[in-house]
Amino acid sequence: MSLEKISFFATCPRGLEKFLFEEIRELDGEKIKVHDGGVSFTGDQMTMYAFNLSSRIATRLLKRIAYGQFKSENDLYQSALKVKWPDLFAVEKSIKVSTTSIKTNLKSIDFVTLRIKDAICDVFKQKFNKRPNVDVRDPNVKIHLFLEKNNFILYMDSSGKPLYQRGYREKTIEAPLKENLAAGIVSLSGWQPEQPLLDPMCGSGTLIIEAALKALNIYPGINRDFGFQHWHDFQSDLLAELKIKFKHKRVEHPLQIYGSDIDRKAFNAASTNIDQLGLKDYIRLNTKRFEVSMSPHDHGVIVCNPPYGVRLNEESNMMEQYQAWGAILKKEFSGWKAYFISNDMSFPKGLRLAASKKTPIYNGALDCRLFEFVMVSGSNRKAKPAT
Ligand SMILES: C[S@@+](CC[C@H](N)C(=O)[O-])C[C@H]1O[C@@H](n2cnc3c(N)ncnc32)[C@H](O)[C@@H]1O
Repeated sequence: MSLEKISFFATCPRGLEKFLFEEIRELDGEKIKVHDGGVSFTGDQMTMYAFNLSSRIATRLLKRIAYGQFKSENDLYQSALKVKWPDLFAVEKSIKVSTTSIKTNLKSIDFVTLRIKDAICDVFKQKFNKRPNVDVRDPNVKIHLFLEKNNFILYMDSSGKPLYQRGYREKTIEAPLKENLAAGIVSLSGWQPEQPLLDPMCGSGTLIIEAALKALNIYPGINRDFGFQHWHDFQSDLLAELKIKFKHKRVEHPLQIYGSDIDRKAFNAASTNIDQLGLKDYIRLNTKRFEVSMSPHDHGVIVCNPPYGVRLNEESNMMEQYQAWGAILKKEFSGWKAYFISNDMSFPKGLRLAASKKTPIYNGALDCRLFEFVMVSGSNRKAKPAT
């Protein structure tokens, strides 16, 4: 096994960097540094495999191949020409290059991306008189160019498909949460496996499933493949060994996890996903309107991703809904803490509750908050009414 130190950059939804930092620390990553939307660190090949198998928060793990400074598109082409690509993967592998650029003076990102692809193909052609094919949909090898001002970094994507694709979501509904964002929301809520957990608008069940996986220490990447499996240095025995080791880390806990949704289709989707993971004994599902639900315990944690009323003509309806949700929280859920992710900054006002915390978090490109409401026990007025 190669013990050579590798520089990595793990990406994640903005707002979750501190949890990603913790995951990397637990894997003994070194030189860990938090950035906006990701964390850089160093480690070896084993760290790379273990991270891909275990991270609940990351979107992808990038391995640094080359870096430096540039002034023009041609400088980038020349730098990519210097990389020994045929030592990294076979000419038969399909490739895709993508670029992220921050504060550069380049005229066209597409053109730069094309030049990097040309450089890779030119290196292969020179050696084998053959070049790899481009596949923009489902490439074997993903190369990522990161540009910031005059600095560039070339990465290979060790994850391949994004890590939130755990391979368990057979059925989905409109607007599901990404699995890594859902795992991050559960972490932000501070929920502990001994506590009851409820998602009253659970959709396909992403939040409650991620909570159960975490509580039972089921590794999220155990049932999927990774980009690094297409690289020359792939060690299948090392990956197989780690998978077995991680499977044995599963723990048993009785869990009090509840999900409900108004929509039968959502119930069916959540139910299929839960069955597929063998989590039926840990999660109870229901079809119900949140407005008429009853609290299953006198304390617990609610995590919820309600529908966003983004269209203007839906706004007044949403306000009525919000008010009804606020009323049921006050009536039924004293002693609970509730966490709602929304891009609507007037959400607490709509509920007529004051949020005790508002954590900035991104759902894709949507600037959201995770609103915390502490429903004080012993009064049905609960959390302070919003001013
Ligand atoms: C944004 S989706 C939740 C997606 C979910 N987090 C997932 O990952 O699949 C919102 C869900 O709220 C449900 N819903 C809307 N109004 C509701 C209500 N009043 N009571 C219960 N569920 C409701 C919808 O049926 C939908 O499944």
